[in-house]
Amino acid sequence: MKLMVIGGGGREHAIIRALKQNPRVEAIYALPGNAGMEGDAILVPIGAKDIPAQVEFAKTHGIDFAVVAPDDPLVLGAVDALTEAGIPCFGPKKNAALIEGSKVFAKDLMARYHIPTAACRVFTDLDSALSYAETAPLPQVIKADGLALGKGVIIAETREDAKKALHEMMEDKIFGDSGSQVVMEEFLTGPEVSVLAFTDGKTIRPMVSSMDHKRAHDGDTGLNTGGMGTVAPNPYYSPEIAQVCMDTIFRPTIDAMAKEGRPFAGCLYFGLMLTPQGPKVIEYNCRFGDPETQVVLPLLESDLLTIMEACANGTLDQVEVRFAHKHACCVVLASEGYPTHYEKGYPVTLPEEPEDSCIYIAGAARKDGRLVTNGGRVLGAVAVADTLPQAIDRAYALADSVHFDNAYCRRDIGQRALAAGKEQ
Ligand code: AMP
Ligand code: GLY
Repeated sequence: MKLMVIGGGGREHAIIRALKQNPRVEAIYALPGNAGMEGDAILVPIGAKDIPAQVEFAKTHGIDFAVVAPDDPLVLGAVDALTEAGIPCFGPKKNAALIEGSKVFAKDLMARYHIPTAACRVFTDLDSALSYAETAPLPQVIKADGLALGKGVIIAETREDAKKALHEMMEDKIFGDSGSQVVMEEFLTGPEVSVLAFTDGKTIRPMVSSMDHKRAHDGDTGLNTGGMGTVAPNPYYSPEIAQVCMDTIFRPTIDAMAKEGRPFAGCLYFGLMLTPQGPKVIEYNCRFGDPETQVVLPLLESDLLTIMEACANGTLDQVEVRFAHKHACCVVLASEGYPTHYEKGYPVTLPEEPEDSCIYIAGAARKDGRLVTNGGRVLGAVAVADTLPQAIDRAYALADSVHFDNAYCRRDIGQRALAAGKEQ
């Protein structure tokens, strides 16, 4: 089989490595991929948002199955276009991807189907939002309606900060049209858990849980980033909590989407907060998380391609989705200064990958024959082990054996999970 994976980061590298394990796979094309994937995929210089070119490529190269990984092409309708062209595809159609594409849609869905989430108000005009900010309790959570590169959420500790954020989103349009509507939410507290789930629109099979580390610096300080590291499983996510999430969140969401005429097939990402009142949805994403995928897929014992085909065919109830009872840790190596200002173009030296470890490249290019850094997040060093401390130690040992100038990583990935594990 010839496969095509749309996207170009560490998440896509992890997906490609897992797909490659199926002996039916002859070739995997990455659109556009990145130079760090050269050993695993054939790179095709077609951008993740260039849907007409993706369809044309799939038709002319005899692609048997496509995986659309990032949010942008999903929200823009890549799966619809590929499906119309007769290419079987993993990922939700445009009308289902709206669950991530519009926070207003997602909040409204949850309200109508009684799915637990933070209470909220939606505003389409600046003046009403500003007057609400005068009286609403602090801190205030302000979210741009549409996609905003993971940066569209502001937690304002003061009314001044809240008003500044509202001006920036609704007047200055720092997130473009994504800020035409804003959601102002109740501030929730509790441990956060990411749960990715395979679904064909009817059956839902949650994957192993994980914990992201979104802030740039140790001790969860600094700016929000795309994610500086992950561990799986998440120790806060007990079997009892998993059952509550299945009954009150996962199943109701899948059923609600089907009922709305927007059946969701693909990977649905539940960003959850385990509040004192029970698990609540912080966000839905219509895709695999990054860097959650880098710790979840290495623990998958079943065959990824078979599962993805079943999601596309509506036969997920007939396939096995089994995870190893082990632990995984991913340490992201970024360029110093990420997520704001950083340099690119430094040569990268990679070590051999020891057993049960791997390096997923997120941002690299080829220059004069050498692999060089080409993004804020450069790679994820991942290790799988029987215990969490071993997984953390091995992931750091691997990260420390990678070299490029100005490399930066948090030194405390997994420490919160370790402490939580000890409490329980
Ligand atoms: P998001 O981009 O929606 O994942 O939000 C980024 C981060 O903001 C989340 O990981 C949470 O830590 C935080 N956050 C979002 N919504 C809330 C909320 N209602 N209460 C508290 N924290 C929140
Ligand atoms: N790691 C968070 C996300 O993928 O949105």
